[in-house]
Amino acid sequence: MQTVTKHNVEQIKVFLRTFGCQMNEYDSELITSILEGESFKFANNEIDANVILLNTCSVRENAIRKIRGHIHEMRHAREHKPAIYGILGCIATNLKEKLLEDKNLDIDLIAGPDNYKQLPELIRQVSRTKQKDSRITFDKNEMYSDIYPKRVEGVNAWIAIMRGCNNFCTFCVVPYTRGRERSRTMEDILGESHKLADEGFKQITLLGQNVNSYGASRTGFTTLLKKISKIEGIQRIRFMSPHPKDFPDELIDEIANNDKVCKHIHLPLQSGSDRILEKMNRSYTQRSFLDLVKKIRTKIPCITLTTDIIVGFPSETEKEFEDTYKVMKDLAFSSAFIFKYSPRKGTVASDKFPDDVSAKTKKDRIVKLNELQRNISLINNRKLIGSTLDVLIEEESTTSSTTNYQGRTDGGILVVFPAGNYFRGQTLKVTIKDATTNVLKGTAA
Ligand code: 5AD
Ligand code: SF4
Repeated sequence: MQTVTKHNVEQIKVFLRTFGCQMNEYDSELITSILEGESFKFANNEIDANVILLNTCSVRENAIRKIRGHIHEMRHAREHKPAIYGILGCIATNLKEKLLEDKNLDIDLIAGPDNYKQLPELIRQVSRTKQKDSRITFDKNEMYSDIYPKRVEGVNAWIAIMRGCNNFCTFCVVPYTRGRERSRTMEDILGESHKLADEGFKQITLLGQNVNSYGASRTGFTTLLKKISKIEGIQRIRFMSPHPKDFPDELIDEIANNDKVCKHIHLPLQSGSDRILEKMNRSYTQRSFLDLVKKIRTKIPCITLTTDIIVGFPSETEKEFEDTYKVMKDLAFSSAFIFKYSPRKGTVASDKFPDDVSAKTKKDRIVKLNELQRNISLINNRKLIGSTLDVLIEEESTTSSTTNYQGRTDGGILVVFPAGNYFRGQTLKVTIKDATTNVLKGTAA
């Protein structure tokens, strides 16, 4: 272990690696800002670093196994030169002190999602005392409102508008790793959004585990969208991830009528079977989900809908899987993230429902749904050939022979087109000439 004191903190070089969702990416921006605020420096890779932090996610299978693998690779790449190793985020709160006791892992510190402000002091202390230590307490008031994230330069900026979750879907570890739901104040979010516009960001993505329950009120999220859209310079507003239970008509109308709110909704279905949905504690039925999609598509005909699905939830029968298959076929989402159920420690499903769908059946089901979705995505994308769409340019993409630009449509679909006299952050009309399952190819109109 290295020794870090308040005085030699300049010699510290932190390498922070992020796993998982956009919320974790955002949290890493907060962590970077907190550490830089206390004069910690950063390295570009693990070899040049002496403090190595992994910001982890435990939502799905094999999370800890993957982290073990990464730490092992990092140690190998560093030829076992000593460093302080830390695990941050969801795995820290999920596995707690067990992580520190694990001799194979041999890490030095852990900190949960509400403890990032204590990291500078924790790193110094662990390094000084050479004793492993942890900070994993929930703080329902911690919103990090006073921390301005160190954002990666670009077109899009994330803002977490709420943290935690109260829904307790029975498969999901988030309420146990990120704690109870709480929202930032509207004033705070608007202040930050103005700043982002001044800094040249063109798109804001609002983040929350249950983003549309913002403010714990029926109208909170709709009001927030309205207010952010008044900010000059912000061209697009996205949000991730909403829950189907929080879609009042006012919200659908706002998305329909507000030019700045992107016409993309990620609407996690999880299952098409009523019995499984109930066992998952999702608080909607197949019928009410279909009705919601119908209402959204009627009010916003150009909407892009994407979803999340879990196959092989405990006791899911073939017939129940077929229900999911049929709903996915009928709804023809633009794209879908399809996961095999895996028990997460501490959740109701893992404690109460035996994980009784065999690995083979889960695999067969995921293969079937992926194949179905690939065909649907291709058909949906091909329908766009010949149309001219507004594309917000995000970056250059260079292959050995060509340089292209890439950006996204309002609906969030990736578009690649030949480079020209354009710039990042520009919105360009692109005519779509070709389409694959997940990319559109075009030329500037
Ligand atoms: N097993 C499989 N998938 C899961 N997800 C969350 N928990 C689990 C689990 N235990 C998926 C859900 C969720 C997405 C973020 O991850 O589909 O919407
Ligand atoms: Fe997990 Fe359900 Fe909360 Fe989403 S809404 S974070 S799936 S508990």
